[in-house]
Amino acid sequence: MADDHAGKRVDGEQCVETDTSNDGNIVLVGPMGVGKTTVGKMLAKLLSKQFIDCDLELERRTGVSVTTIFEIEGEDGFRRRESALLAEVAARTNHVIATGGGVVMREENHEILRRAGRVIYLTAPVRKLLRRTRNNRNRPLLNTADPKATLEELMQIRDPLYRQVAELVLKVDDRSPDILAHRIVKEMQQPGRQET
Ligand code: S3P
Repeated sequence: MADDHAGKRVDGEQCVETDTSNDGNIVLVGPMGVGKTTVGKMLAKLLSKQFIDCDLELERRTGVSVTTIFEIEGEDGFRRRESALLAEVAARTNHVIATGGGVVMREENHEILRRAGRVIYLTAPVRKLLRRTRNNRNRPLLNTADPKATLEELMQIRDPLYRQVAELVLKVDDRSPDILAHRIVKEMQQPGRQET
């Protein structure tokens, strides 16, 4: 961005992107299983933007699953790839970007996320996340004896981080992805940090 202050609202100490121009990006953050990919695809369609899912893109580029990246390179290796990809996609325009649930774990990513576009935090109760991740084996961090406890721990650490980077917090509850995507479009027309 040529001018750091262009299209931004200074919210306390934080700069929040409020650019409503048509070619801006929307960035979805939130925990595993919340539906970033499904909602993101619908949102992209509604807004005529391109969609990119960071995990799927990493899998496409490496030719292996996220689980295999974790196995070979460890979580650290995965996070390095995730940060590099984030920096790359943040420079694009007119995209809906679905990030991996752990993207907020590296502080260096926070500013990149904010600069990438308007950041939306999708959140849901742990019981719902658990239900939605139960049958998916491609989430190495949940490959534990007690995935519920793991999700609770992760949410305890990450929920404040998601809130730090997002201008809008949206509870998924039992709303369908379609309704959520429409809701996001509506909320995006009223810039400002809020919880719905
Ligand atoms: C992770 C979430 C996953 C994926 C990786 C690590 C996390 O993405 O990036 O398994 O740390 O929460 P999703 O949120 O798309 O499942």
